[in-house]
Amino acid sequence: MSFRIQPQPVARPNRCQLFGPGSRPAIFEKMAASDADVINLDLEDSVAPDDKAQARKNIIQAIGDVDWGKKTLSVRINGLDSPYWYRDVVDLLEQASDRLDQIMIPKVGNAGDIYAVDALVTSIEMAMGRTKPIAFEVIIESAAGIAHVEEIAAASPRLQAMSLGAADFAASMGMQTTGIGGTQENYYMHRDGAKYWSDPWHWAQAAIVAACRTHGVLPVDGPFGDFSDDEGFRAQARRSATLGMVGKWAIHPKQVALANEVFTPSEEAVAEAREILAAMEEAKASGAGATVYKGRLVDIASIKQAEVIVKQAEMIAAG
Ligand code: COA
Ligand code: MG
Repeated sequence: MSFRIQPQPVARPNRCQLFGPGSRPAIFEKMAASDADVINLDLEDSVAPDDKAQARKNIIQAIGDVDWGKKTLSVRINGLDSPYWYRDVVDLLEQASDRLDQIMIPKVGNAGDIYAVDALVTSIEMAMGRTKPIAFEVIIESAAGIAHVEEIAAASPRLQAMSLGAADFAASMGMQTTGIGGTQENYYMHRDGAKYWSDPWHWAQAAIVAACRTHGVLPVDGPFGDFSDDEGFRAQARRSATLGMVGKWAIHPKQVALANEVFTPSEEAVAEAREILAAMEEAKASGAGATVYKGRLVDIASIKQAEVIVKQAEMIAAG
């Protein structure tokens, strides 16, 4: 480990973030009744320009009126290139009850974007005497966002989570696809007459995980657009979990159970992790730094790997 210890992200489950348009208040109660850990009420791209003002009102009212239980409650504001975002922030911070936990800033391109929103939020919090600081989450969904991902992850102590937004990211990068996440038809290796699909999101995901883990932020996989493809969702989510992401968005309620399934460590994985920890306890007691577990090497690094799984399971069970 470097002299600088890796900071821990906030200890709360973030397996699934369920989205719903702020212009569709009829689904808010259904969102609250879902099993998602995080609710994202949207003011941005699922809300038409003419509906922005009404969507703000719907959301502000629902933050106070709906019973959101123990969920993390987040509102996605409009991007900093839009005429809407400042009003989103001012109205939310001045009018929403302090049940609001977090705001999501989309399309961030550099640390200055976070700084600007932080300054505005901080000023309104002081003016209103708000005692519960609003947390931030951001979406990396542009070439600039991924190019500056580390400075973004470090930009504010408010920042708790960072998602990859596959659709806008693909557009910004000039990727030749209209798919939202998942396998892309033309991204394959070819050998002996067979195609082997590869993962075009891998680099961006790994860059986000590294930036997030360096700065104590939760890395999250964003939307999977084809909500009729459960196996496609599972495959994408399992790759994300393997890379270190803690959860994934649901853009339809049926995706919530899939995300919870993948991002809750399985009983078998937890049992194996505990066995590795026990094997290492025994090894340590006999003065060894390494031992053999089921025919394979385990050593002091294995303790940390196993602890990732056990701690995640314990944190979810406690939540
Ligand atoms: N959260 C909670 N419940 C939802 C929901 C959501 N996001 N979307 C739909 N539902 C409800 C419907 O009201 C319906 O309920 P009912 O059985 O009581 O009638 C049920 O789930 C089935 O809905 P369905 O008919 O399959 O979907 P739809 O056509 O009503 O809506 C979408 C489909 C994709 C338009 C809608 O899910 C949606 O708006 N998703 C979020 C989009 C978004 O926020 N995007 C921004 C982030 S990328
Ligand atoms: Mg987007």
